[in-house]
Amino acid sequence: MRIKNLRLKNFRNYAEEEFVFDEGVNVLYGRNAQGKTNCAEAVFYLCTGTSPRTHKDRQLIRAGQESAFIGADVGNRFGTVRVEAEIFESARTLRVNGGKISRNAELLGNVNGVFFSPEELRLIQGGPDERRRFLNVSLSQMSKSYYTALIRYNRILEQRNALLKERDAGLVLETLPVWDAELCRYGGEIVARRGEFVRSLAPYAAEKHAFLTDGAEALEVRAERREQTAAEAEKALYAELSSNYERDMRLGFTAAGPHRDDLKIFINGDEARVYGSQGQARTAALALKLAEVEIFRAVAGEAPVLILDDVMSELDLSRRRKLLQQMEGVQIILTCTHTEKVLFGRQVNKIRIRGGAIVRTGGAK
Ligand SMILES: Nc1ncnc2c1ncn2[C@@H]1O[C@H](COP(=O)(O)OP(=O)(O)O)[C@@H](O)[C@H]1O
Ligand SMILES: [Mg+2]
Repeated sequence: MRIKNLRLKNFRNYAEEEFVFDEGVNVLYGRNAQGKTNCAEAVFYLCTGTSPRTHKDRQLIRAGQESAFIGADVGNRFGTVRVEAEIFESARTLRVNGGKISRNAELLGNVNGVFFSPEELRLIQGGPDERRRFLNVSLSQMSKSYYTALIRYNRILEQRNALLKERDAGLVLETLPVWDAELCRYGGEIVARRGEFVRSLAPYAAEKHAFLTDGAEALEVRAERREQTAAEAEKALYAELSSNYERDMRLGFTAAGPHRDDLKIFINGDEARVYGSQGQARTAALALKLAEVEIFRAVAGEAPVLILDDVMSELDLSRRRKLLQQMEGVQIILTCTHTEKVLFGRQVNKIRIRGGAIVRTGGAK
């Protein structure tokens, strides 16, 4: 997949700008706070329908404006697709090939994206919610049915939690099995898909990590639950919920289920979250993201767009080169402050950003 061009209007600090991207490496460079990450963010927004930086879409609208626009022409194996998002204070309109779409699920899969920035350290060092987010964002792009199951699961979970706060215990006990039958149908699918995903991810993650550490460390990733079919997981979840009615009623929320599951990450056998250093966490997070690229390649049949925000300065020169070699055939959009420091071994499309605009000088890109 590749993004051919990106149009921004009143997006963050951009008034109006158009980017033309190569299919290889595209480098957005410039000083701090000029709009490099903003551009990377816009790309990812079109991939997933959400910003990697904020859940509040209104922050994306340029100060003082009513709406923001992001549009791109994307080449994927089905041809060229135009994806567009118009973002208002409290609503948005998404379009694919000019036609309005009503659900985010219809946006997913047109262009897949993997986003990596120094903040992704939280993938290793943060709480389980960070790792679930990784699984959810990745799987949702790969599978609309996962995304739909997740949305429905969360909706029913909310209702179940509201019910658990109800005072009439008789009513609660009577109603829980009904909700749970629904909840576990979707929960079963989520568990099964995650299991599959993590099984495929694990060897890639280990391989990328060995490459990044020159084989000095071993990375291991495991799902919270053993791998099982959706039907098996559905049954197991239902049994688990049924045997914990009392606990959940006491707590007033649903204490276990896929919404609480973690992704286990180990470096040399130790849990990375607890024992890892900053440097180890950074390397492990990058390995996971690079592994994600490979899964997309394998599952979706084509490489996603890899968005690397500000990560080059953290890698030494030989790793930078190796990294880019490994990502041959992947469109990369990367941001950095000094392009010369990145020292690419191959042709790159350099785009200089200043004050929310591309600097165009003497025909040089
Ligand atoms: N909604 C917005 N309206 C106007 N400017 C914004 C908005 N959101 C962020 N900015 C500005 O964008 C700049 C940061 O851009 P960013 O892409 O993060 O910088 P960098 O080039 O360092 O990656 C800051 O100057 C910030 O004030
Ligand atoms: Mg930045």
